[in-house]
Amino acid sequence: MVDRKTNRVITLEEYIIQGQNKFPGATGELSQLLRDIGLAAKIISREVNKAGITNILGEDGTTNVHGESVKKLDLFADKQLISALSRSEITCMVISEENDGIVELDNEGGKYIVYLDPLDGSSNIDVNVSIGSIFSIYMRENPDSEQLSEEDALQAGTKQVAAGYVLYGSSTLLAYTTGLGVSVFTLDPSIGEFILSDDDVRIPDHGTIYSVNEGSYHSWEEGLKQYVKYCQVEDPETNRPYKARYIGSMVADVHRTLITGGIFIYPNSSQYPNGKLRLMYECNPLSFVIEQAGGMAIDGKGRILEITPESIHQRTPIFIGSKGNVLKVKQFLAEHRNETVNA
Ligand code: AHG
Ligand code: MN
Ligand code: MN
Repeated sequence: MVDRKTNRVITLEEYIIQGQNKFPGATGELSQLLRDIGLAAKIISREVNKAGITNILGEDGTTNVHGESVKKLDLFADKQLISALSRSEITCMVISEENDGIVELDNEGGKYIVYLDPLDGSSNIDVNVSIGSIFSIYMRENPDSEQLSEEDALQAGTKQVAAGYVLYGSSTLLAYTTGLGVSVFTLDPSIGEFILSDDDVRIPDHGTIYSVNEGSYHSWEEGLKQYVKYCQVEDPETNRPYKARYIGSMVADVHRTLITGGIFIYPNSSQYPNGKLRLMYECNPLSFVIEQAGGMAIDGKGRILEITPESIHQRTPIFIGSKGNVLKVKQFLAEHRNETVNA
């Protein structure tokens, strides 16, 4: 995408500075933080692209706080992002999927708290399928308190000041929002720069793709089973049957949903009573992006962004995507939940 005035491409760095200049009082700190994330993203992307030849594929041999086996690339991404965020003394604490508690950075005056899913889609690392990184940024609420604690980080998703993701796919892209729409940048590997490729992205109001791991069908609640049946029924007027697509990397599935419309679901089930995906570093940031693009994200009843968090690694069910599709599944869930209550 080219700047209409100058007729040349816009880099992530330029775009961030232009955005900052629109706010005369801005200190530039958030801009620096986003640039630091952009730098880590380039390093991770470089490693992902040559993963097969550098002995970085495979398990690390340990398990993380969730009991999941950790891949070497999970740890590499975690290290790169945390080290990039330590550089500019802006971030006081990081919470990452790969670390049990909070990670305090040595930046006493740091105003920002950053949540990370350093590498999303771990099961796809070894098979050359799209993976991602997710970030979510908050302001520290009590900058004068001496001791940092998890409490400082437990803020509702509505308080995010910025959030986004990097998708290491057929190309590497970075999408983010600061609450003023969604911008997407594509990495040009020949010059090592993220170039603006889509500004103010809008998700279609309705889409014809549903995305859910149907292998878990038998552990779902009735409303979801009925919704998926509805997606599969032939009805030319509403463009059904819908297509099914499921990559197994939330970033990639949600990015496709952003571009083509439709819905991505990771529900509660008998296997995962609270869902599997993490509120603070998977669901909140992607919900912020999708809402900023005109879409919707709920936990089955209410807005994801309004959930009051109780712990930094908590899980939530999620139904996210085009408004039309999310409202439809909500209706199916409500109808069948009532049946259960009234039975
Ligand atoms: P992570 O690799 O960060 O642990 O996340 C994996 C998540 C998410 O990316 C994806 O949507 C989901 O796990 C897939 O889970 P299933 O294999 O249960 O479908
Ligand atoms: Mn993840
Ligand atoms: Mn992860």
